[in-house]
Amino acid sequence: MAPPTLHKNQLFVGTFIHSKSLNQLDYLHDAAVAIDKSGKIVAIEPQCCDQGKAAEMLYPKLGWGAADVEVRACEEGQFFFPGFVDTHIHAPQYPNAGIFGNSTLLDWLNKYTFPMEASLAASTRARRVYGQVVRRTLSHGTTAAAYYATIDVAATNLLADLCLAAGQRAFVGRVCMDRLAPDYYIDEGGPDAVLARTQETIDHMRRIDPQGDIVAPILTPRFAPACTPETMAALGRLASEEDLRVQTHLSENVGEIALVCELFPDAADYASVYDGFGLLTPRTVLAHAVHLSEAEAALIKKRGAKVAHCPCSNSALTSGECRVRWLLDRGVAVGLGTDVSGGYSASVLEAARLACLVSRHLAMPYNAQGDASRATLSVEEVLHLATRGGAAVLGLDRKVGGFEVGMEWDAQLIGLNMVDDHDAADIDMEKKSGDVVDDGGNVDIFGWEKWDERIAKWVYNGDDRNTKMVWVKGRLVHQRASSASS
Ligand code: GUN
Ligand code: ZN
Repeated sequence: MAPPTLHKNQLFVGTFIHSKSLNQLDYLHDAAVAIDKSGKIVAIEPQCCDQGKAAEMLYPKLGWGAADVEVRACEEGQFFFPGFVDTHIHAPQYPNAGIFGNSTLLDWLNKYTFPMEASLAASTRARRVYGQVVRRTLSHGTTAAAYYATIDVAATNLLADLCLAAGQRAFVGRVCMDRLAPDYYIDEGGPDAVLARTQETIDHMRRIDPQGDIVAPILTPRFAPACTPETMAALGRLASEEDLRVQTHLSENVGEIALVCELFPDAADYASVYDGFGLLTPRTVLAHAVHLSEAEAALIKKRGAKVAHCPCSNSALTSGECRVRWLLDRGVAVGLGTDVSGGYSASVLEAARLACLVSRHLAMPYNAQGDASRATLSVEEVLHLATRGGAAVLGLDRKVGGFEVGMEWDAQLIGLNMVDDHDAADIDMEKKSGDVVDDGGNVDIFGWEKWDERIAKWVYNGDDRNTKMVWVKGRLVHQRASSASS
């Protein structure tokens, strides 16, 4: 089952906003972007006024006839933005989103996480949960995600099937964990069996999407304490032989780090454990990286491995604060992860706003020296991490994350609530609240805000009500029920 092709070329007209560099957004107004039937951006016209003019300027150049083009123009208060990239999410933990109490990592795994993951071996339950997590993340504008599944082969394959059917770009990993796991949820049979089960899922994904255009495998040793050295060595060899992506957790919590020191006494540090097994590569995604030493950051940079920053999870599980600025200054690539359900929200926009807040907590000790701005992340920076940064972490940066000719149309149409004179005049609250069918969200725009202020209001107050439409590789994969009329 290969990804479907599009029936028509597409022309998008209006305001396009995307990240130009780490701290700069590019705003294109009255612009047009042309997408061909393969889902690629084939032309960008930055100044064309309206739909008619755009067609006049672009169709002859592209050899397109009007009958062969679907046109979509954004309305007032709307803009196109690149799709979000979630560099770290656990699909089977989605039912637990928000359920973590006062636990911290190691007791949270045993109390909430392993029982939930084990329960998804039943395929009807896995279908419900995985179907919902894919739909929900699409509704939040997540066009690409790196998913952890469970140890179960059939359920992992099912997650890949559902991502492909829904059209969400996904790297899907069967979780490898053959050590220090509970009896009811452990990868049995030794490293050969662990590898054979992983290979089954890789073969399945290569069968359903041979080019890996939408769905592709990713090797997933859960974290060093949960894998035998033999299994990590075998996964490292496989990663190198087949140039496969790898995802795992690193330096999330102080108890976890102490456990790694105990289990791997000869290793210089936590990052070196993975390095010793060939698991630190340019295609490796390391979730958290909260408590790294200078030497570990230097090693990660040297190997070209990438970091998934998960501020929601790090706050919820009281793990710590990842020093994103410190990592960026050292040349380490960083993207954002929701880490559901260590993180309580499946929204990358929520992760972006929490990245802003966590960076401000990190900056507080420097306030007295007037140096706080060194640590704080701006709205522009977290939106960069949510799009181009995440794309780079997953090795998709030449394909998605921005609007450029040759890239693929992974995008969202964002709509903010335009408060008109009529709204202001009508103070009959009872009548108004009774009238609301879909309220268009929390972000009220009065019309005097500059565009960068509108974007800041979206980052700090927005949610999935603002995500009107979502496309992956040119295919419409989500539309809010009310957006057809609004
Ligand atoms: N470390 C090992 N497994 C997990 C997990 O499922 N979530 C998080 N946040 N950390 C982990
Ligand atoms: Zn995680």
